[in-house]
Amino acid sequence: MNQNKKDVSKILQELENHIQEYSYGKSPKELYEPISYIMSLGGKRIRPLLTLLAYSLYKEEYQKVFTPAMAVEVFHNFTLMHDDIMDDAPLRRGKATVHEKWNANTAILSGDVMLVKAYDMLLGISPDLLPECLRLFNKTAAEVCEGQQHDMNFETMNTVTEDLYIDMIRQKTAVLLGFALQFGAILAGAPKEDSEKLYNFGVNIGIGFQLKDDLLDVYADKEKFGKQVGGDIISNKKTFLLLKAKEIASGENKVSLENWISAKEFDKVEKVNAVTAIYNNLGIKNLTESKMQEYFDMGFSQYENLKVPNQDAYQTLMMLTKDLVNREK
Ligand code: IPE
Ligand code: IPE
Ligand code: MG
Ligand code: MG
Ligand code: MG
Repeated sequence: MNQNKKDVSKILQELENHIQEYSYGKSPKELYEPISYIMSLGGKRIRPLLTLLAYSLYKEEYQKVFTPAMAVEVFHNFTLMHDDIMDDAPLRRGKATVHEKWNANTAILSGDVMLVKAYDMLLGISPDLLPECLRLFNKTAAEVCEGQQHDMNFETMNTVTEDLYIDMIRQKTAVLLGFALQFGAILAGAPKEDSEKLYNFGVNIGIGFQLKDDLLDVYADKEKFGKQVGGDIISNKKTFLLLKAKEIASGENKVSLENWISAKEFDKVEKVNAVTAIYNNLGIKNLTESKMQEYFDMGFSQYENLKVPNQDAYQTLMMLTKDLVNREK
């Protein structure tokens, strides 16, 4: 393992301990158990890692900001708990989703209280930084909800363009990665210009990150992915893959794709296999990979313009984000 990888796994281990030690509350257990459940299923913890590494670019002792970094992760897990109800998803990180294991009401309320706990975790921020951080956090959180609503609206819309799609994923996914980086920089007292550059970097890699998520939803190895493969196809999500396929399909592929999209009753496995075969015919995987790479490259060129005091942390953050391109889950 090279030094950057060692650094990340050390931070991750410490962060994980911090997450496991935190108590959300005890009673009623139906409210709090699902929180411990989803938080202990793991996940990449990419958002708090971004916060901790962005902090490390400017300041030592990232341990001082574990709790605010964890707020970002708790917020993310809250969105997942509700997203899984909205997407009717059976699996999350290789285990049953909260609404499947308990029920939808439980997932709604536990999710709600997670948002409250995320705010609790922000309260320890030094008073001179708190208003600015809260303002940015709230702006980001509202944007995530806006993106999620567009995502739902798009399921039944036939007029979704690539631009609308990119803007939707910018909101539902990318701004939180941008915020995670900007937040770490602000906590470390970085110049405003830098924290804004980090935000923009995060938004671009966040768009690439969601393009990769859409790709994995079709092409992942289910065991590694930990989520249902084909869920986006089943629910007619207007992913980049579907939009591209709709744009370039002709003849039989076009007819078949339109039939599957408009089908009211169908066998799920059959639909997933058929639509995947159309994607394969049209070379959609390559087209999506190029689009994803475009956004990652845009992000990396912004990152390269950043001059920071800690070069080791700079390299570690570069490596961490570059690894997102080839992730398998
Ligand atoms: C899943 O996020 C939701 C998206 C924004 C694509 P992650 O892929 O970061 O999921 P975990 O937290 O690692 O499980
Ligand atoms: C969700 O996007 C992004 C959120 C804000 C939760 P997806 O619906 O594609 O995320 P996954 O695939 O369920 O993790
Ligand atoms: Mg969703
Ligand atoms: Mg989902
Ligand atoms: Mg997805």
